[in-house]
Amino acid sequence: MGKIIDGKQVSADVKARIATEAAQLKEKGIEVGLAVVIVGEDPASKVYVRNKKLACEAVGFNSYEYALPEQTTEAQLLELVDNLNNDPKVNGILVQLPLPKHLNDKVIIDNISADKDVDAFHPVNVGKIMIGSYSFLPCTPAGVMELIHSIGVDVKGKECVVIGRSNIVGKPMAMLLLHESGTVTICHSKTEDLKAACKRADILVAAVGKAKMITSDYIKEGAVVIDVGMNRDENNKLCGDVDFEDCKDKAGYITPVPGGVGPMTIAMLMQNTLTAAKQQNGLL
Ligand code: GUN
Repeated sequence: MGKIIDGKQVSADVKARIATEAAQLKEKGIEVGLAVVIVGEDPASKVYVRNKKLACEAVGFNSYEYALPEQTTEAQLLELVDNLNNDPKVNGILVQLPLPKHLNDKVIIDNISADKDVDAFHPVNVGKIMIGSYSFLPCTPAGVMELIHSIGVDVKGKECVVIGRSNIVGKPMAMLLLHESGTVTICHSKTEDLKAACKRADILVAAVGKAKMITSDYIKEGAVVIDVGMNRDENNKLCGDVDFEDCKDKAGYITPVPGGVGPMTIAMLMQNTLTAAKQQNGLL
């Protein structure tokens, strides 16, 4: 049986460190604030936003929630973003995606101040990630790196395979592995022999969005298997992109879903918000 990586524990450790730093800032009169904006009624988004708010409370940040109706116009949302950009109490701004169809994600993200863009989705921050000189971490990929570090695996020289090429996960994930000198392959829906590519991986990161697609015949014995997926199985139970039961004996290390990467994403968001507050107060 491979070792299960406990994302809840690693996330709790990261948040405990952030809480200590937030308390030290408070002693200097600096409070950390995160604004979370949600438009519409998407149930999954509501859960994510609630968890972000709870995480803020847990680490001692102020959270400001803006729940806007489905019919909100682009002009109205941009006006809110502009107000938040100029509000000194707000160090970080997160607009929960996906937005309703009539709103253009890109237009909204481009208008968030890059200094408050704690998702690291703004083109300036994406560019900084590309060149390896950045202050805001891409939350999910950075959470994956923390999990890899937590088990003491050195990425240097390893075969790393990322399945998925999204701007939010796949591409920045590949960059972070590359920055640590992994030999990185990015696979996607047009990859001709996905199984053969995955079987080469010492570190396999699955971010596909297909329930239990990665079975044991895709993985090398002893590989580190990180599951970014968040899907529902045939019984409507939460599951990842990896068939956990089928892979857990063959993998060296494996993340569960839930309780693997998910809690890390929020911990990294807290880290970015702390970084933003420090930068805006001249402490970095
Ligand atoms: N929707 C799903 N994941 C995320 C995320 O990390 N940030 C934002 N803003 N929206 C999301």
